[in-house]
Amino acid sequence: MSDSAQPMGVVLLSGLDDLHGWRATHGGGTRALVPTMGALHAGHAALIARARADLGGDGRVLVSIFVNPRQFAAGEDLARYPRTLAADCRLAAAAGADAVWAPSVADIYPAPADEGGTPSVPTIHAMTVRPDLADRWEAAARPHHFDGVLTVVNRLFEVTQPDLAYFGEKDYQQLVLVTALAAQRFPALQVVPVPTVRDDDGVALSSRNVFLTDDERRQARALPAALGAAATALAAGRPADWVCADVRGRLTKAGLEVDYVAVSPPLLPGFDGAGRLLAAVRCGSVRLLDTRAVGRDERTR
Ligand code: PAJ
Repeated sequence: MSDSAQPMGVVLLSGLDDLHGWRATHGGGTRALVPTMGALHAGHAALIARARADLGGDGRVLVSIFVNPRQFAAGEDLARYPRTLAADCRLAAAAGADAVWAPSVADIYPAPADEGGTPSVPTIHAMTVRPDLADRWEAAARPHHFDGVLTVVNRLFEVTQPDLAYFGEKDYQQLVLVTALAAQRFPALQVVPVPTVRDDDGVALSSRNVFLTDDERRQARALPAALGAAATALAAGRPADWVCADVRGRLTKAGLEVDYVAVSPPLLPGFDGAGRLLAAVRCGSVRLLDTRAVGRDERTR
C-alpha cells in the first residue's frame, strides 16, 4: 500500500497482494466496485459518488484503474490512451472513494505456469453472454472489443468480489453485456446503471475528448443535438427508419463520419422505458458514442 497516497484521502493499491490486504482489513461491510481505465472525469466521479451515496458511511468504494490491452485492437489508441494516476486519485477521493486499485497487466493476466500453457484467465465471449448484442453496433465496429471488456470485468469481479458494481449508461451496449455477465456468473452482484454526464454543450464526457481539436469539439455537439431531435421526432410519431435517416443526415452535414445510428427496443427491461437511441461517429481521430432513452410515447414503430 503506498503511503504517499494517504494525503490525497484515498488508499492507492497496486499489486494483487495490496488488494487482498485491503480486502482483509476492510472485509466487513458492503463493497462497491467502479471499474475504469483512468483519465477520470466528472462522468466517472458520478459513478463513484453514486456508489458512496448508496453505501453510506459503512461500506467501501473501490475504484479500479486498468487500461485493458485486450479490449483494444491493433491500430486502436492503446498506446496514446491518457494516463493520469495522481489526478485520478484526487478525483476519486473527492468523489468519495475509499481506495484506488491500479493493477499491472501481470496482476490481471498472469502468465501461464509453463510456456505455451493454458492462459490462466479465460476469455469471456460476448456471444455466450448476449448473442443478440455480440456482432452489432459497437461489436460490429470493433470485433472482439467486448470479449476483452467481459474478460477483464469478469476478472475484476472475481478478484475484488463486490456486492455492487457501477457502470455508465453512456457505454450502453457495454452496460447491457456486463449486466448479463453478472446475472450469469455473479448472481449476488448488482450492476447499477448511472446516467450520462455531459458538458454544458451537451457532449458526453469521455476520456478521449482531450484529443478533439477546437473545431472538432464544435462539430461534436451535433451528436447529442441530433439524438435530442430524434427523441422529439419519435415522440411525434415519426417511424424509426425515418428518424435514423434524419439523424445520419444531420451528423453528416456537421462533418461527422457516421458509424451507426439505431433505435432499439428496451435491452434492459424495467430500466430504459420504451427503448434506446444509439449512435457512434468518427470526429477527427476520435470515436464518439452517445445514447438516449426513448420515452414511453416514443416507442420504436
Ligand atoms: P472507461 O471508459 O474508463 O469508463 C469507466 C466507466 O465510466 C464506464 O462504466 C463508463 O460507461 C462510465 N462513463 C464514462 N463516461 C461517462 C459519462 N460521461 N457519464 C457517465 N458514465 C461514464 O468503460 C470502460 O472504461 C472499460 O471498458 C471498463 C468497463 C473499465 C473495462 O475495461
